[in-house]
Amino acid sequence: MTGPSEPSNEELFEANANACGTDKSRYHGYHRFYPLFLAQLNQKEAFTIVEVGYGNGESLLLWRQLFPQAFIVCLDRDVSESGDDYTVIKVDQSDAIALEEAMQAIPQPVHLIIDDGSHHPGHQLSTFSIFFKELLQPKGIYIIEDIETSYWLCGELYGYTMRYGLFNRWSAVEALKLAVDQLNRKFLSSEDRNLLEYSMMLSGLSPESTSLISMMTFAQNCVIINKIIDQDVDYLEGAYPYANFTARQA
Ligand SMILES: C[S@@+](CC[C@H](N)C(=O)[O-])C[C@H]1O[C@@H](n2cnc3c(N)ncnc32)[C@H](O)[C@@H]1O
Repeated sequence: MTGPSEPSNEELFEANANACGTDKSRYHGYHRFYPLFLAQLNQKEAFTIVEVGYGNGESLLLWRQLFPQAFIVCLDRDVSESGDDYTVIKVDQSDAIALEEAMQAIPQPVHLIIDDGSHHPGHQLSTFSIFFKELLQPKGIYIIEDIETSYWLCGELYGYTMRYGLFNRWSAVEALKLAVDQLNRKFLSSEDRNLLEYSMMLSGLSPESTSLISMMTFAQNCVIINKIIDQDVDYLEGAYPYANFTARQA
């Protein structure tokens, strides 16, 4: 129980976000979801937070307030600078090779990645496909913000045209729905698994990365994705006693 003098984690996130000037609470209301997932980071000593999208540095201030023990790495197409507890690497998230190179300069362990960059669905999927597998620690948290662009029929942002809409097969939301099926792959026939992996690859989402998801939460305008730890593997891949119920009939 928290008394009036002791703000909840949600209230703390909201107050800090508004004071720092980021739109994460004021516009998006992310304080309703994030603290539930971020609480585990309070127990950690030194670690790295990676955020794609620097803007004017408002969310950098927020992460610094919430996690003073963390080193913060921002990636942005337009900015390069650094200070004692942060660095901003100039990189275009649409360039997979540049992302791979930037990763080499990011200190481990990385326990939190936020994609608040271009908001282009294709970039959201390709960035996730690389960073979730190669950069994030087990049990780490990956947040994709501003998935609203998946619903845009005719939008424009940061010079990118976004033509997607409900059920558009190239949208990030549609691709991430496939990751829900991938999370439940143990219950699929081998033919359906192959079909699923093929569909994911077509949509620009790497099955190798989605196979490392232990839990995913869809909330308003964001997806919060948790990475597996060793003990998840048996649950995800172990024998399924009802396998004959899921086999395709000849
Ligand atoms: C919404 S702002 C980030 C806001 C910041 N995270 C905050 O909450 O205060 C998005 C940023 O993404 C950057 N951006 C746009 N397209 C990008 C791309 N292709 N690669 C990397 N950064 C990009 C923009 O320069 C802009 O600074």
